[in-house]
Amino acid sequence: MSNRYRIAVIPGDGIGIEVMPEGVRAIQAAAQAYDFELELTEFDFSSAAYWQQHGRMLPDDWFDTLKGFDAIFFGAVGWPEVLPDHVSLWGSLLLFRRQFDQYVNLRPVKLLPGVPAPLANRKPGDIDFLVVRENTEGEYSSVGGRMFEGTDRETVLQETIMTRHGVDRILKYAFEIAQHRARHVTSATKSNGISISMPYWDERVAAMAKNYPDTKVDKFHIDILTANFVLHPDWFDVVVASNLFGDILSDLGPACTGTIGVAPSGNINPTKEFPSLFEPVHGSAPDIAGQGVANPIGQIWAGAMMLDHLGETAAGAAVTRAFEETLASGRTLTRDLGGTASTTELGQTIAAAIR
Ligand code: NAI
Ligand code: MG
Repeated sequence: MSNRYRIAVIPGDGIGIEVMPEGVRAIQAAAQAYDFELELTEFDFSSAAYWQQHGRMLPDDWFDTLKGFDAIFFGAVGWPEVLPDHVSLWGSLLLFRRQFDQYVNLRPVKLLPGVPAPLANRKPGDIDFLVVRENTEGEYSSVGGRMFEGTDRETVLQETIMTRHGVDRILKYAFEIAQHRARHVTSATKSNGISISMPYWDERVAAMAKNYPDTKVDKFHIDILTANFVLHPDWFDVVVASNLFGDILSDLGPACTGTIGVAPSGNINPTKEFPSLFEPVHGSAPDIAGQGVANPIGQIWAGAMMLDHLGETAAGAAVTRAFEETLASGRTLTRDLGGTASTTELGQTIAAAIR
């Protein structure tokens, strides 16, 4: 009997609704070619339309509704005309990340054929690395507060939280994933300036590295690391970082390889205790929503990462190959890539190339 996976599909807002059908088309084509089954259940929550109807982003029982799925395939959330972004984001996507303990944020950084490269003299193959961001603690903590508000003693404090549990598990993930690649891990640090938490991070990196004697390890302070993303993107294989540094690197990396329309992201709970969430990096793009011109590759690539996470690695690779081939052919490109094709036309072309 073939494997069967239950996927929650949440298109969300704006172009999320337009690119999701193309993501679904691609993963279904892969399921057929690689002989497994996808049982997809679509949800209308986590959207401005749901909020307008119900006055909140999610139903009360969202956790129980979603927790049994093998993965969540997510589009984009946010519609500032209807509700403020912090309400839509904190009321949905950020709850999934936290409560499903998706402690890895994974972003591939890869220069693809046919995508105009913002860095001079770089060609496909030159840039191919992963940013692994700690997604639950670090600089983004809720420990702190304000005192003496509105007086000249006004005091504001927010602490960085690094736990051995939290640091070690993200490092382990980075080292493990490097075993399937070039076995090279780069750590983002700032132990020259941040003199307590960052030396601790460095210590844990050194301790974890002992378990992987075949893996090359280096570290850079975050300031020069950002410069090297631009100057020497070919130096990297797996880059691991705390929450704040990873947030910056995981936007900078994809920006070094072209349009935001192709970049994917995984919010992963490697234990599989709860579902992981896969989404394009881009948002709902109100400026182009409804026109049928959005690039669906970010959603499709996120689908490939999801198949990989589910263990269907050959199918995930086939999806990646299909959009790389389509991009290389230079035909059927969307407007952001200099073409005139619609979202659907590009999605159909990619799905047809999956084998
Ligand atoms: P955005 O990513 O939606 O758009 C930024 C620019 O990139 C726009 O000019 C847009 O047209 C273009 N773009 C984005 N995706 C594209 C695609 N697939 N093909 C072609 N062009 C594309 O970011 P923005 O404008 O800052 O945010 C819009 C809304 O999306 C806000 O409500 C924001 O909060 C939300 N958002 C949601 C995210 C999520 O669901 N994870 C992530 C980022 C933003
Ligand atoms: Mg960010």
